[in-house]
Amino acid sequence: MSGKPQPPQPPLRAETLLIHSGAPAPDPAGAGPVNIPVVRASTVRFASVATMADYHQRHSAGERVASYGRHGMDTHQALESAVSTLEGGHRAFLTPSGLSAISLVFIALASPGDHILVADSVYSPIHRIDRALLSRYGIQLQYFSPSGDDLAALVRPNTRLIYLESPGSLLYEVLDFPAIVALARRRGILVAADNTWSGGYFFKPLALGANISLQAATKYLAGHSDVMQGVVVVDGPELAARIGAAYDALGLTVGADDAYLTLRGIRTLAVRMPRHQINATEVARHLAGHAEVARVFYPALPSDPGHALWQRDFTGASGLVSFTVRRKAPGFAAAFVDALSLFAIGASWGGYESLATIADPALLSKHGDWQGDTALIRLHIGLENPQDLTRDIDRAFDSAAGAGE
Ligand SMILES: Cc1ncc(COP(=O)(O)O)c(C=O)c1O
Repeated sequence: MSGKPQPPQPPLRAETLLIHSGAPAPDPAGAGPVNIPVVRASTVRFASVATMADYHQRHSAGERVASYGRHGMDTHQALESAVSTLEGGHRAFLTPSGLSAISLVFIALASPGDHILVADSVYSPIHRIDRALLSRYGIQLQYFSPSGDDLAALVRPNTRLIYLESPGSLLYEVLDFPAIVALARRRGILVAADNTWSGGYFFKPLALGANISLQAATKYLAGHSDVMQGVVVVDGPELAARIGAAYDALGLTVGADDAYLTLRGIRTLAVRMPRHQINATEVARHLAGHAEVARVFYPALPSDPGHALWQRDFTGASGLVSFTVRRKAPGFAAAFVDALSLFAIGASWGGYESLATIADPALLSKHGDWQGDTALIRLHIGLENPQDLTRDIDRAFDSAAGAGE
């Protein structure tokens, strides 16, 4: 190092960090691949008994070292580092699915007798975690309507966690995140948030004071509809120890090939997300002006009730757009979806392709804000040309109407 003082450098921007974080160190031989290789291992081989003991001790002390295959090797570490950087966290844990990332957080942080407050707009299989696991262990989940309930009045002395998802699933209700975090902090309650909608690119729960941000990496992080994975990012060493202990006890791990695919997806996140936004905004505007459409749910539209909060706390919007139709005939929505040709009928969104599905009314009824009486159609807007998509939508409406539905 020369003695010359270096001028302070501005922090790197998200696009640059997504390309460089988790990249392999320069190869000592002087040449090497751009990408970290897929390192598969069940067995970690040590140079000596003392080295093995040292690795195990460091793992037990909370250091991120690969002392056993289940902890994941270089590919996993590179992905953890990239997601942790993206979310502005201390450490990331990879799980086999988004749902297992959510279960991990509840299991790690709650004990018998604890009370957890959950926004009623969250991904609905959380009800399954509640019924199958938490209620059996004496942990009480209480759902609240962010627009209808006074959250402060619901907090109890044994409330340990507030669990949020903003925007919510299906209707994309935007929460007043900073206000909820401020309340939680005053009462010494942890806040965890599902950040799948934004891919970690348009929204930063940890910067707004949450303790945990988790994602279904299955969706935008992997981005190509070919991986199931979750990730939990924590804000500091204390939560890393608590999440890490439950993670080890549950024996969670993900395959190196899947970690590689998600890391590859992350490299193009900063190109894909703005494109999803451009396309989804065009489709949402088109739907809002369509004679067959009753209401469009998309926070980037000024008509959406969450628009002002979204504008304040987010830097962009993802590809999910939902809408209701004017016709009450029960078969109309299904006939419309069946008539689409560029939208696959399917649930797991976040890939490059457009999707359509009809939301189950039983799931919608759990949302305090839901007042609809016709089917809700959820679209995921992919990376196709948006005019081709709006043309396909118009054609499908004509076809469904022509079929007498
Ligand atoms: C908001 C949200 N969180 C979590 C999940 C669960 O992810 P996975 O399908 O990887 O279990 C989903 C899946 O649709 C989701 O939409």
